Amino acid sequence: MKTTATFRKMKQDGDPIAMLTAYDAPSARLAERAGVDLLLVGDSLGMVVLGYDSTIPVTVDDMMLHTKAVKRGARDTFVVTDLPFFSYHGDFSETTENVKRLIQEAGADAVKLEGGMEAVETVRRLVQADVPVMGHLGLTPQSVAVLGGYKVQGKASAEAETLINEAKALEKAGTFAIVLECVPKQLGALVAEQLNIPVIGIGGGADTDGQVLVYHDVIGYESDHVPKFVKQYANISSQIEDGLGNYVNDVKARSFPEAGNTFTMKDDQLEKLYD
Ligand code: KIV
Ligand code: NA
Repeated sequence: MKTTATFRKMKQDGDPIAMLTAYDAPSARLAERAGVDLLLVGDSLGMVVLGYDSTIPVTVDDMMLHTKAVKRGARDTFVVTDLPFFSYHGDFSETTENVKRLIQEAGADAVKLEGGMEAVETVRRLVQADVPVMGHLGLTPQSVAVLGGYKVQGKASAEAETLINEAKALEKAGTFAIVLECVPKQLGALVAEQLNIPVIGIGGGADTDGQVLVYHDVIGYESDHVPKFVKQYANISSQIEDGLGNYVNDVKARSFPEAGNTFTMKDDQLEKLYD
């Protein structure tokens, strides 16, 4: 299995890191087979799987359930799990309890948390306790209410400079990699260049050390609004719709099940039944 050391080496070698989210066993298995370098059980599951409008309602229990499923599906892949909203902001003992459950019980190989300077101390203490931590800067969906919507971050030089300093502080605190979401490509390139740890972009241009996308966005599976930074590699929704529509039509037309889908009893047994 690839580890945090592998990812650092990949950065040094200029070998791009392909990361993808996953939420259940079959999708994780397919991602592993496709050669994805690491999987993220993102709290985006709140939107793409659980039907919420944001990541805010997602709980540690939700993350537990889905992390377990992903680990069962992709046994040989490094799995990062998101710490959901307000699960790492209170008392540090609460944070450690949540992290402990996700790693020890659910089997996550690392956790990811959002935030800049305000997250540094938490990162430092978790790393000190031997927890691999991934950072997340730029557009951080858990603080979407504070950011005022899902928009590009770090367009102005002052904001960009703050972000670069935050990335450096997270690296110093011990994060093994950072997700950088929705920033101008020049800033993506700059952050990747200034850090020794991998910077994995989502909407951060082509010059970060890797890319991450949401599973449902990549395969075109009922992801409502598809952001500009997404490239859809399949349109699985239309295939599913066709398949389900054909099933319903066949049932209504009594053309399903066919002989090959049915069980029969022997004639003598049938006769006895009528006796
Ligand atoms: O929750 C998520 O899917 C994420 C990725 C978009 C990085 O945090
Ligand atoms: Na997330």
